[in-house]
Amino acid sequence: MGISWPKTKLTSLLGIDLPIIQAGMAGGSTTPELVAAVSNAGGLGTLGAGYMSPKAIREAIRRIRELTSRPFAVNLFIPGATKASDEQVQAVNRRLDRYRRELGIPTGITLELQTETFLDQLAVVLEERVHVFSFTFGIPEATQMNELKSTGIRVIGTATTVREAVLLEQAGVDAVVAQGSEAGGHRGTFAGSFDASQIGTMALVPQVVDHVSIPVIASGGIMDGRGIIASLFLGAAGVQMGTAFLTCSESGAHELHKLAILQATEEDTRLTRAFSGKPARGIVNRFMREMAPYDKDIPDYPAQNALTRDIRQAAGQQQRPEFMSMWAGQGVRLATTQSAGTLIQRWVQQVESLR
Ligand SMILES: Cc1cc2nc3c(=O)[nH]c(=O)nc-3n(C[C@H](O)[C@H](O)[C@H](O)COP(=O)(O)O)c2cc1C
Repeated sequence: MGISWPKTKLTSLLGIDLPIIQAGMAGGSTTPELVAAVSNAGGLGTLGAGYMSPKAIREAIRRIRELTSRPFAVNLFIPGATKASDEQVQAVNRRLDRYRRELGIPTGITLELQTETFLDQLAVVLEERVHVFSFTFGIPEATQMNELKSTGIRVIGTATTVREAVLLEQAGVDAVVAQGSEAGGHRGTFAGSFDASQIGTMALVPQVVDHVSIPVIASGGIMDGRGIIASLFLGAAGVQMGTAFLTCSESGAHELHKLAILQATEEDTRLTRAFSGKPARGIVNRFMREMAPYDKDIPDYPAQNALTRDIRQAAGQQQRPEFMSMWAGQGVRLATTQSAGTLIQRWVQQVESLR
């Protein structure tokens, strides 16, 4: 059986040269420089805009356009129902106060959910007519999907099971990311329990491929040419890689986050709800270890995310990796440092030599 490379159903859908997507990673790592470098190298760079204000998203889009004339994507979070009781919030807040005291920041904060709404963020994506819109944590409403499509924007959703991939295809997405459990960052799971949706990339991708007719993008633990070609053999039309780009020179990830990835082994990542209330994979640290016994007391996303924001920010400023969320996938040992363009060229050579 042969594979199609570098042209695939995905490259023609998105108008790119290589079937390689740099994952949208909220939190500051996907600088305009990184996004543009990936797109200029022939892949699809993605701005991780989930936590950005509409104004900041617009400015970043304009900056990316100064750096590249090629297609790129903007990635957002689909909002879900929040259930966090006052008692739960107060109890976890008391526990978090011990870390605030250690960091010398105010204690007893009140819960302030992000005021930026998905609708305002999406409005910028539509107004700016971004080439590709990708999302995770759910499915946009039908009217939003229609607006995106009638504006000519390509839409990519995230699935962690076959069921979710089928739901996304029915909702009209143009392509679907099959996010395996090796993946760094938050689980995209939205239509089932998080526990039941921990499917590895190797098992997930061919099962999704067999059940949808849109292009499937493999994601989770893919770090080099071997992972790319393996994904194509599994039937994927492309890959989405996150961790591999975090240690690039253009990445805005905290230097201690980059260092932790470069020093980590495959045994060092865990799934945790401690930082945000939604399971996410990151390099295990003191905060994750100490919060683990209280997992059932942690309020769901986005409440916990809002409650730990001051701690994560202070930890970053004070160079305290034990309190930072250092998202990373299970392929960490394969991470390297260089510019994104050089990295992508290396992967192309690796794939060429393996085909
Ligand atoms: C630091 C970090 C932040 C992430 N943030 C997002 C995000 O905002 N939106 C999203 O769709 N996926 C996000 N992801 C998940 C990626 O889309 C992708 O599934 C994952 O990086 C693939 O696994 P890998 O890290 O092993 O390559 C994030 C991943 C990381 C490592």
